[in-house]
Amino acid sequence: MPKTASLKIDDQELELPIIVGSEGEKAVDVRKLRASTGYITFDEGFGNTGSCQSEITFINGEEGILRYRGYPIEQLADKSNFIDVAYLVIYGELPTADQRSAFSARLSAESDLTEDMVRFISGFPKSTHPMSVLAASMNGLGAYYPHLATNNHKHDLGHFDDAAAIAMAKVRTIAAHSYRVTRGLPLNSPRAEYGYAETFLHLMFSEPGQDYVPTPEVASAINLFLLLHAEHEQNCSTSTVRMVASAGANLFASASAGVSALWGPLHGGANQAVLEMLTAIHEAGDDGSKFIEAAKNGEARLMGFGHRVYKNHDPRAKIIKGSFDKALESLGIIDDPLLDIARNLEAAALSDDYFISRKLYPNVDFYSGLIMNALKIPVDMFTVMFAIGRMPGWVAQWHEVAANPKSKINRPRQIYVGPTPRDVPDSV
Ligand SMILES: CC(C)(COP(=O)(O)OP(=O)(O)OC[C@H]1O[C@@H](n2cnc3c(N)ncnc32)[C@H](O)[C@@H]1OP(=O)(O)O)[C@@H](O)C(=O)NCCC(=O)NCCS
Repeated sequence: MPKTASLKIDDQELELPIIVGSEGEKAVDVRKLRASTGYITFDEGFGNTGSCQSEITFINGEEGILRYRGYPIEQLADKSNFIDVAYLVIYGELPTADQRSAFSARLSAESDLTEDMVRFISGFPKSTHPMSVLAASMNGLGAYYPHLATNNHKHDLGHFDDAAAIAMAKVRTIAAHSYRVTRGLPLNSPRAEYGYAETFLHLMFSEPGQDYVPTPEVASAINLFLLLHAEHEQNCSTSTVRMVASAGANLFASASAGVSALWGPLHGGANQAVLEMLTAIHEAGDDGSKFIEAAKNGEARLMGFGHRVYKNHDPRAKIIKGSFDKALESLGIIDDPLLDIARNLEAAALSDDYFISRKLYPNVDFYSGLIMNALKIPVDMFTVMFAIGRMPGWVAQWHEVAANPKSKINRPRQIYVGPTPRDVPDSV
């Protein structure tokens, strides 16, 4: 393999170093390009740009491979759980028994919110989207724990275990509170005896005098959902977290920026958009076939299909689809018009040349939206659930930036295409 790449530009010949990752991924190192030639690279959407070197997640989109810290997602989904995977993603190794109990104890200890924080969350108008409450409250954690959020990475890293546990534990409580506040419902307190997924469901659905006790199938479906979303390398929200972290910002501020990016319908908002699309198709009396035609004509977008990186299949979609029928069966859901439409869309798209030639396959959001709907998670909470799942990834990526002594502020360049110099008229 060559050690350099040659670039001929304006009669100048330049040798650019090649960087090879541990899985054989290759990159041309252009860091000296502008200084040597005056040129920059142009890569709108960053489809060909490596923004960092990272040890956390490996994805091969062509082959549908996803690994956290070297472990295949299929094996983790089969043999592990969200908390162990969160530990793995954040600390680099699966926990020992002692590490697991210490980590779980830390999360339990940090589960509740202070009265001040509850007041802050309760102050939002009832019409607020829970993602808005979540983004504001995650950033607000810096106000309640100022000693963990000094914006001095060296100091903040010294308290990283505390900050990581607070982010992981409180995101779930804030999320459930945001749901109940926006519905005018009384808030529930976490229960130390419940696991992570069970606690979330209790916080969401218990009513005064009537505890919500999920079936094992429901708790394990939530657990699987969170595990599958725990990390996904340099996607839009994670790149945002790293971008904010690169300026020296604290973990809570950086994670809050991740929540905001995730809210977009082309990213984490896609699972909500899937349900809204299915509902609209149903209300229009369509079985999905008209919508497929509209998508092919560019008049509609088939939400839950296509992926920037996976161009073969989304391995998470395969896993979640596998557990999908089991979850529906345990919930006694046999007939559902939205499910029928979803199955029609899936079958039509998988056999239609428009979708095949563009490598558009169902992604994880297509099935996760359906599962969460079956679990009676409200539609506006779908993306919030994604954010709870993704927190370990954001925490780990923040740490990677903060702990890297060579880390630089992220600052892309641009090609300016606006007006060339002109004078302001005398009369404006
Ligand atoms: C995920 C997504 C943003 C990836 O975008 P991308 O890699 O930039 O792909 P592009 O937008 O360049 O699309 C390539 C082609 O496929 C088409 N296409 C992509 N996704 C499509 C979809 N969901 N429905 C219909 N057509 C789609 C585009 O119109 C384009 O067609 P063209 O070549 O005729 O112009 C895109 O597939 C999408 O919007 N999907 C729906 C939203 C979603 O599910 N997001 C969650 C991702 S996990």
